[in-house]
Amino acid sequence: MRVRRARLDEAGILLGMESEEIGTFSPKQLSSFLTSGAVALVAEEEGDLKGFVLALLKGREDARVYILTVRQDTRRRGVGMLLMGALEEELRRLGIRRCHLEVRASNTAARQLYSKLWYEEVGLLRNYYGGEDGMKMAKGL
Ligand SMILES: CC(C)(COP(=O)(O)OP(=O)(O)OC[C@H]1O[C@@H](n2cnc3c(N)ncnc32)[C@H](O)[C@@H]1OP(=O)(O)O)[C@@H](O)C(=O)NCCC(=O)NCCS
Repeated sequence: MRVRRARLDEAGILLGMESEEIGTFSPKQLSSFLTSGAVALVAEEEGDLKGFVLALLKGREDARVYILTVRQDTRRRGVGMLLMGALEEELRRLGIRRCHLEVRASNTAARQLYSKLWYEEVGLLRNYYGGEDGMKMAKGL
């Protein structure tokens, strides 16, 4: 498994992967993220894309993770951790000092993953996901 930057011509595949379960972004939004300075990384194995993470920079020192997704048939193999680790390394290299994200309160898998990476729950977002609560999490890099 290797991690590398996502390419703009992969937006369609990434969107398919992302919408398997989340489905929050349109093709136009994703393409505009990929061309507007977002840090977008993919995990690739034998030519197949297995996972995707995307963060936007907010000012000089903050970033926000917008997408983290791993293909269903590849889960629980450490790809999520690998992508987040590579993302954090890249953000640090860019001078980013704090990383933020939001997650559904019911998303045990993601919450556990972020806790393992020492993200802290810093706020409750009531009804953030159309009736479901979200958690705000953050970590100093
Ligand atoms: C959340 C997600 C990215 C995790 O990816 P993954 O590659 O399966 O995660 P990893 O294998 O790196 O797991 C790392 C740790 O996270 C936790 N975790 C992952 N999946 C879990 C699950 N289904 N249940 C409980 N804990 C889980 C575990 O602590 C795990 O460590 P362990 O396997 O040693 O116990 C993946 O489930 C996914 O794509 N979900 C749908 C999209 C999503 O919810 N994204 C997050 C939006 S904020």
